[in-house]
Amino acid sequence: MRFAKRLDLVPPYLFAELERKIEEKRRQGVDVISLGIGDPDLPTPEPVIRALREAAADPTTHQYPTNRGLERFRDAIADFYRERFGVAIDSATEVVPVLGGKEGVAHIAFACLDPGDVALAPEPGYPPYTSGPLFAGADVHYLPLEVDNGFMPDLEAVPEDVAKRANLLFLNYPNNPTGAVAAPGLFDQAVDFARAHDLIVVHDSAYSEIVFDGYEAPSFLATSGAKEVGVEIFSLSKGWNMTGWRVGWVAGNADVVEQFRRLKTNLDSGMVDALQLAGAAALTEARSFPAEMSAVYRRRRDLMIEALAGIGIPADPPHATPYIWVHVPEGHTSETFTELVLEEAGVVVSPGPSFGPSGEGYVRISLTIADERLEEAASRIATSLHVEAGA
Ligand SMILES: Cc1ncc(COP(=O)(O)O)c(C=O)c1O
Repeated sequence: MRFAKRLDLVPPYLFAELERKIEEKRRQGVDVISLGIGDPDLPTPEPVIRALREAAADPTTHQYPTNRGLERFRDAIADFYRERFGVAIDSATEVVPVLGGKEGVAHIAFACLDPGDVALAPEPGYPPYTSGPLFAGADVHYLPLEVDNGFMPDLEAVPEDVAKRANLLFLNYPNNPTGAVAAPGLFDQAVDFARAHDLIVVHDSAYSEIVFDGYEAPSFLATSGAKEVGVEIFSLSKGWNMTGWRVGWVAGNADVVEQFRRLKTNLDSGMVDALQLAGAAALTEARSFPAEMSAVYRRRRDLMIEALAGIGIPADPPHATPYIWVHVPEGHTSETFTELVLEEAGVVVSPGPSFGPSGEGYVRISLTIADERLEEAASRIATSLHVEAGA
């Protein structure tokens, strides 16, 4: 048997690898605590479950959906964008549902990139910013996100010949894995850059609703000129504890939305109507739910930051996202630290380089597990480092 070479263009998917390691340890009888994956541990809000239950009982939701999406869902998205971000979206032409943000990120590359084109992708970053473009036959030019730059990309450092070939710029704030929030002016700079180089900006807004300390994440589409050059990908996964539901959308520039929808009509048949109605319920009946979740993650963030400080691993508290981007202790690489805490503490963290080379020296800790387990993880890490927690 022979398989397509494109599958070999990317390393094994990070979280598939982590899941494999966790399984292996559990089979050995280890009580593994996984801080590796950003998968909310708490249930989806009740109004969403009720809406799905009711919609599923209605046989009119059982047929093929359309790739355009239900008017009710699109209208709810437009209302949400207006009220939450002050952004006007034409629900008829400027939004299309996607089967989770991941599907949007990966497939938008197929609508925007030809072989020989370049995608500009932040690294460390979400792996589909790389796999989508590579599978589409394009090249990826990485934009390193480093602490000295506040984890912002340096667009001016993109070589002229690369910028000429680039047709897609991925941005992601609040950022996974660094937890950074967009610096003032970054989105304006991206719009100018896109105009200067005639490229499409895709802002991945997966974490805009998980925010702390009074911070409010803006929409890229609220930036002057943004809708002329790009789109935003939004997901209900993180804010509404709906990772398993696969509900998101692409909104913004009508041409990008239309071409993306054209692509999708050839790949899938849209989102189950009942899920779209549940998505609408999230936006209308559970609008404040992400604020409740943010309070939970803020408590866990503070708990973890304090525990890490107590064992000599200081980390900056993020203002958004359920992640802490932790610099590993002196004398460790990301890999040796990840191995140590897995082998000695049964704790799984995500090694920084699995998000890109600039992640070296870091690990990502996810706060999507119960407080007691987080405390237990911190104390086991302390033991594995032969340090008393709080000493
Ligand atoms: C940066 C980023 N974008 C998009 C997603 C996609 O989320 P989903 O496909 O569940 O909407 C994730 C999930 O972890 C993410 O971290």
